[in-house]
Amino acid sequence: MSHASPKPLASCKSPALKGRLTVPGDKSISHRALLFGALSLGTTRISGLLEAEDVINTAKSVTALGAPAAKEGDEWVVKGRGVGGLKQPEGPLDFGNSGTGTRLMMGVLAGHDFTVEMVGDASLSRRPMGRVLNPLKTMGLEVVAGEGDRLPLTVKGRAELVPMTYELPVPSAQVKSAILLAGLHAEGETTVVEAEATRDHTERMLRFFGAQVTATPDDKGRTRITVTGNPTLNGQTVRVPADPSSAAFLIAAAVLVPGSDVTVEGVLINPTRTGFYQTLREMGAEVTFENERDQGGEPVADIRAKASTLHGVRVPPERAPSMIDEYPMLACVASFATGDTVMEGLAELRVKESDRLAATAAGLEANGVKTKIEGDTLTVHGTPGGVKGGGTVETHLDHRIAMAFLILGLATETPVTVDDTAMIATSFPEFIGLMEGLGANFKKQIESI
Ligand code: S3P
Repeated sequence: MSHASPKPLASCKSPALKGRLTVPGDKSISHRALLFGALSLGTTRISGLLEAEDVINTAKSVTALGAPAAKEGDEWVVKGRGVGGLKQPEGPLDFGNSGTGTRLMMGVLAGHDFTVEMVGDASLSRRPMGRVLNPLKTMGLEVVAGEGDRLPLTVKGRAELVPMTYELPVPSAQVKSAILLAGLHAEGETTVVEAEATRDHTERMLRFFGAQVTATPDDKGRTRITVTGNPTLNGQTVRVPADPSSAAFLIAAAVLVPGSDVTVEGVLINPTRTGFYQTLREMGAEVTFENERDQGGEPVADIRAKASTLHGVRVPPERAPSMIDEYPMLACVASFATGDTVMEGLAELRVKESDRLAATAAGLEANGVKTKIEGDTLTVHGTPGGVKGGGTVETHLDHRIAMAFLILGLATETPVTVDDTAMIATSFPEFIGLMEGLGANFKKQIESI
């Protein structure tokens, strides 16, 4: 997929944002529902699937692997082939911008005795794959073409993998998930040991599809997650809750724009995903979870936010996995707070769709906000009197950088321009329309920047 012509956009000071709405389905759960459906016997029906480029690429990939995924009415339907039952695709699998789709699929392909070429866009082709490929190679995956750590590359799995116990060197749910998925195709038990809790949707959903997955604390305070190989997975009906990482932009906008009051309904509040909301509350934001309930094994709530006066806080490193995609937005919010906000333990931000640590600091500096990066710590010096704005932000093919800075501009003195918004379609195609519906004021930039 190529985004040849950038679509710049400016965001301008807006009147109070008001409304009650929902956002599209959770990206992590959407990828997993398609993949686990493909590995199941029978039919999986998914409602609320995120219909964004990243997830559509996963749907196309499972279809190419012989497990057709297609929309029927309001639902997505996957005709599964069972664990180890996928077939060799005719051409390369294109994952576009999606690290999650790529890395989870590597775990699946490891357990299949055929050769597949995996490709992606310029951003994805810069991201490290060794973190997934190295443990998978120990289990039996071969990389038959490509440099090894970056796409494009060609992999060849095998029908019976060797089980392993693996201590995660980085707190990554993608790495954890890839190994657990490979473990489905290994005789006996495969264990991942994680020191910091990362999102646990794979564990929850694999159990829901019929796999045996246990999570137990060890004597060092870590969690040992074990999957038993060669299970029979059966097709299920999955209802995908609204994505808390997408809702974060709307909630941040409500907190920043004076007079606002916004409620986002049915949002996933799994504790491995809610660090952003906890941090906003610690900064003094009026953010509440209303009507908390269970939806298909995951907790959801309506999240309500009102315009608030904020103060800086320290965000501890152990919270990072539960808000890893929300730091660009939090850093923008922090620029309106009294005092400094110190965000620690951000090493993983450097290997996202862009180097988000550098891109966030550069975007803020371009708009009159003082920042400091020391090692893996980002400090934002708040300017409660008002953030200047007026700058242009380089998005580096990163959807979350684009959305975070468009929200910043709704509250700055002069408009904030982002150099491209095309990539927003990878995770949240409805973003601009939903924000305008709440009262946000965006202006198209005719000239390419
Ligand atoms: C994801 C895990 C996170 C996150 C990504 C989605 C997932 O990546 O940044 O957007 O669905 O497992 P890492 O696991 O690499 O931190």
